[in-house]
This record gives sequence, structure tokens and C-alpha cells, in this order.
Amino acid sequence: MYHLPSLYDILHTPGTAEDVSLYERIARRFGAKATRWLEPGCGTGRHLRVLARRGYRAVGFDLDEDMLAYAKLSLARRRLAAQLFCANMEAFAQHLSAGYFDIAINPFSTIRHLMSDAAMLRHFSEMATALRSGGLYVVGISIANYASDRQETDLWLANRGRCHVRQQISYTPPSGGGRIEQVESRLRITRPSGQQTHTDGYSLRTYDERQWDALIKKSKLHRAASLDEWGKPLEGRQPPYQLEVLEKQH
Ligand SMILES: C[S@@+](CC[C@H](N)C(=O)[O-])C[C@H]1O[C@@H](n2cnc3c(N)ncnc32)[C@H](O)[C@@H]1O
Repeated sequence: MYHLPSLYDILHTPGTAEDVSLYERIARRFGAKATRWLEPGCGTGRHLRVLARRGYRAVGFDLDEDMLAYAKLSLARRRLAAQLFCANMEAFAQHLSAGYFDIAINPFSTIRHLMSDAAMLRHFSEMATALRSGGLYVVGISIANYASDRQETDLWLANRGRCHVRQQISYTPPSGGGRIEQVESRLRITRPSGQQTHTDGYSLRTYDERQWDALIKKSKLHRAASLDEWGKPLEGRQPPYQLEVLEKQH
């Protein structure tokens, strides 16, 4: 649904300020002075708007021009300043000053759009270049459990003014030792003028705990903590979604 940025923004903007507050608390907990923020795959700019409003230096990039155009307009309408550019998560550091950022955030399993270990390692290498020494990279990710994962469906409901959006999103885990999860999105949009539906799908690469850990160990980042979506340490739990706090080595 990335070609429908306004609908994405209606669905996912609620709760964004609270999420940014959580990232601020995580930065404080890990002793990171967090004034310069980076968001790879920033989408409609919902985090950048909150960050800019709170006075931070906020920079985001995305591969999708429609998402970027929406982000740019939504910031301009509110007279908020953030830097935006078009780039792939595999190659973005050339647009930025090396060692500039205190913290980067990448929620919603966006990182799983990268389709190979090589692509992920290129991404981590670019991130290590962009972050200052001791800087944090907070990655929101669903970690697979191949033995027990089953097809799951989430329902998102939101409205803006008189536009009501309903998204049913189903996740089909890989089978037979594969690493590709299929995601299918069904949208229903209801406006006073009538109802529309859109269906589309995309793929995400999967990582179980061992695969994720092995990959991070090959990068210049290290796992400072694994937290649940409220910021509590996992302590052996396997929630459906977690926040990985990665730190650039001093
Ligand atoms: C799930 S959305 C998340 C958007 C935003 N971070 C948020 O939390 O609302 C994923 C975003 O990643 C972007 N994206 C996917 N693959 C990408 C890549 N290889 N490089 C840069 N952006 C990418 C998509 O265009 C989309 O805007």
C-alpha cells in the first residue's frame, strides 16, 4: 500500500507521538544524547513530524517517491523542518555526514524488505557510517519461530475527518525451510461519496533469533538490548514484535 501514502498515514499516525517518546526513553536509558535522528524507510514522515515538532534535527529517506512527496507536503503544511531524500537502505550514507547521527529508528519490520544477508550487511555498514560512535539504532522487528509460526491476520481501523479506513493484513510464514513471508493487505475506504477497496501484497524476509544474532555479529553494530514494544527487557520472552537496540561500537 506504499503507493497510497495518505491511507497509510491515516492508519499509522495514531500512537506515533507515544512511540517517539518511547525511543527518547530508550536513548536516555542507554546514555545516548539524542538530538540528531535518522529514519531509513521513513514513509509518510509520521515520526519526522513529531521529531521536528520536538525540536530535533530529523532526517529521513525512502525508496518510494510517492511516500516522500507525501512526507514533504505534510511537513511543509505544518511548517516543520526535516531533511528528506530518496535512497535505498543499502546505499544512503553518501547523502549524509559520516558519524553525524545520535540515533536511528526503523520500526514495523521495514528492515525485512531487504532480501539477502548481503543486502542487510550493506545496510548495517551504511548505518555504522552514519551513526556517531556509541550511537543507537532501534530496529522494530518480528522475529520468526519457524516451528510454531502460523498464518496471522491483523486488523487496523482509523479515520481522518469523514474518511474511514479499514485494513486487514495477513502474514503467511515461509514453508519448507524458505525465508520469505508473504504479506497481503486488503483495504476498505469509506467516504461520504462511497466505498473503495484495494488489495495488494509484498514479501518480507524472515529471521529467527539465531539468524538475526549471527547477522548482527557480522556487522559493526552490537546488540545492546532486546525490548518488547513497551520498552521492557525480553528476559527470554518471544513477543510477536520486538525492539532491537543496536549500538555502534565505541
Ligand atoms: C512499513 S513502511 C514504514 C514507514 C515508516 N518507517 C513508518 O514507520 O511509518 C516501510 C517503508 O519502507 C520503504 N522501503 C521499502 N524498502 C526500502 C528500501 N530498500 N530502501 C528504502 N526504503 C524502503 C517503503 O517505501 C515504505 O515507505
